[in-house]
Amino acid sequence: MAELPQKVLVARRIPEVGLDLLSGLDVEVLSEEDPPPRTALLRAVRGASGILTTLTERVDAEVLDAAGPSLEVVANMAVGYDNIDVAAAEKRGVIVTNTPGVLDETTADTAFMLMLAAARRLGEAERMVRAGRWRHWGPELLVGLDVWGKTLGIVGMGRIGQAVARRARGFGMSVLYTARSSKAEAERELGARRVHLEELLAESDFVSLHVPLTPQTHRLIGSKELRKMKSTSVLVNTARGPVVDEEALAEALAEGRIFAAGLDVYENEPGVHPKLLELENVVLAPHIGSASIETRNRMAEMAARNLLAVLRGEEPPNPVVTRR
Ligand code: NAP
Ligand code: GLV
Repeated sequence: MAELPQKVLVARRIPEVGLDLLSGLDVEVLSEEDPPPRTALLRAVRGASGILTTLTERVDAEVLDAAGPSLEVVANMAVGYDNIDVAAAEKRGVIVTNTPGVLDETTADTAFMLMLAAARRLGEAERMVRAGRWRHWGPELLVGLDVWGKTLGIVGMGRIGQAVARRARGFGMSVLYTARSSKAEAERELGARRVHLEELLAESDFVSLHVPLTPQTHRLIGSKELRKMKSTSVLVNTARGPVVDEEALAEALAEGRIFAAGLDVYENEPGVHPKLLELENVVLAPHIGSASIETRNRMAEMAARNLLAVLRGEEPPNPVVTRR
């Protein structure tokens, strides 16, 4: 008797290129648009060999146990995997994969977009034009800060951090960075200099965050750190919301202790701290760091290929944990 195709749960509809790759399997796409309710996820995952998740699905011991012993792989369509309890997966022999590399340039573009928009007050300017409040050109109308020639501090000099540093070079900026290890190539080719976080915060005109969310980076930037930044500086966060203490950031922005901020990620997505929503000097994007058509296609394809490799008994190209 022919074997039945393995069951794969795709938590949310992903670009067609990814779904096409899974066409030989018994695929259920749980939600067309919104993140699936937790109860639906727990029900639908039963008996699955693979789950293709996005960063909105929390995959913990409860989900892994609901899937049961058939589960072999959780393929996350994101490079960050703080939504997945990797230790719990490892304990159950489940492989976790992510999508590194294919979104670096697009996410770095987003960080630069936010840097420019916050420095040049684009959010305020847009609101003025749309509200019909723009009367005429003005010598001091919406004057902001230059980006070119300034000092950029990159917190987390990994794949995306280095892509941001490459852009900074084109803007004639000096680059400072922090990371757990030094980056000889970036130092040589981009003139980047590794410093302690305190020095980076004190010296930088722009601070851009690119660390993963871990227990060590949770609220890495709080009130104490914000007080070290220049009053003319701009903070950009395209990493993860909880890396920044949002309440402390809102206070620093309201009191003019830093000039502006550009945010793509939040502590309680899709919720945004109410104080931030009231401020003019913060540009708010809805977690669209990697949201270009080309990159989302690449991410969907990569996640599907990772999932397929594990189900075929092969080593996946992008494991977060490897088979023991
Ligand atoms: P990556 O290549 O792993 O780089 C992370 C960097 O952070 C590395 O340089 C690492 O240091 C450093 N780091 C880690 N823990 C640290 C700590 N405790 N203190 C100081 N530095 C630390 O990751 P990536 O691919 O660039 O992605 C970074 C993060 O961006 C992802 O985890 C994700 O959360 C976020 N992201 C967001 C979006 C978006 O849509 N907004 C899109 C893509 C990614 P070492 O190099 O020394 O290990
Ligand atoms: C997006 O936030 C990602 O981690 O890929």
